Amino acid sequence: MRPMTPTFPAHRPRRLRRTEGLRALVRETSLGPEDFIWPVFVRDGEGIEEPVPSMPGVVRRSVDKVAQAAREAHALGIPAICLFPYTDEEKKTEDCAEAWNPDNLSNRATRAIKDAVPDMLVMTDVALDPYNSLGHDGFVKDGYIVNDRTVDALVKQTLSQARAGADIIGPSDMMDSRIAAMRDALEGEGFQNVAILSYAAKYASAFYGPFRDAVGASGALKGDKKGYQMDPANSDEAMRMIARDLAEGADMVMIKPGMPYLDICRRAKDSFAVPTFAYQVSGEYAMLAGAAERGWLDGDRVMLESLMAFKRAGCDGVLTYFAPQAARILNG
Ligand code: PBG
Repeated sequence: MRPMTPTFPAHRPRRLRRTEGLRALVRETSLGPEDFIWPVFVRDGEGIEEPVPSMPGVVRRSVDKVAQAAREAHALGIPAICLFPYTDEEKKTEDCAEAWNPDNLSNRATRAIKDAVPDMLVMTDVALDPYNSLGHDGFVKDGYIVNDRTVDALVKQTLSQARAGADIIGPSDMMDSRIAAMRDALEGEGFQNVAILSYAAKYASAFYGPFRDAVGASGALKGDKKGYQMDPANSDEAMRMIARDLAEGADMVMIKPGMPYLDICRRAKDSFAVPTFAYQVSGEYAMLAGAAERGWLDGDRVMLESLMAFKRAGCDGVLTYFAPQAARILNG
């Protein structure tokens, strides 16, 4: 065998970069609409598409508009939509009961999507923050986010989403033992085919700011989420969280945020070889879309480059607000 230390001019790496044909031939990673889960914000009303100011190009949709968006996404080849409700202030309480109301926004939107496009996968969010007058993902007692009582509530929320027709449950709450509790409950009620995509390595990140505006949780939130979300300094801990969630019954795992945590994505894929997703979160979207809006970046190109990076880092797919826009370009 020839030595692998390339010597010039026998080795000219630029030979394979000369034309698009050559580049395509040796490309290691691919990106397509099938890689996307599209997060969609739902609000009350009819015929409404209301812009989210901190996320240029993103809107909150009424349920009828969500169904229409699902049709469009399906035509673009996007396999899944992830729902996030913007709940009216008067429905937010400390007991978060709206979270398991069979007719809450998320459940109504799930049914509307399934009616409009039965093949569209619906992923739902399990966490109490959109329904909590205190803004946290769990119940608050004396300033502490209580774990076990929150898990009981998350199970009720999970079952109400499964009954509405959700295909994939996405617990974003970061309570301990929730995956096991949810999995048991789903099996117990005959929902053995409902998948769980666990937010296994979710960091306490400042990149969630625009999302909290979008779901109306910014105002209520006191303090931070560092008591349950992960410390951005940690990597080994992410591996432990992924191992735990898989052992408890998660089918797929997520790393969140995405771009600043690509090292975690790669490590997760190499260590566990399970379906791995990254969430390109609201703040990442805002950085790119905001700079593009000002003409500081080429929006389409940074969008595709950032999405390809997730695939290269080992992810099977990515939750991204860019999904329809990127799919349109990738479809030519
Ligand atoms: C909360 C939740 C958050 C996101 C998804 N679910 C924010 C948070 O933890 O405060 C963030 C998504 C994004 O920023 O795009 N359960």
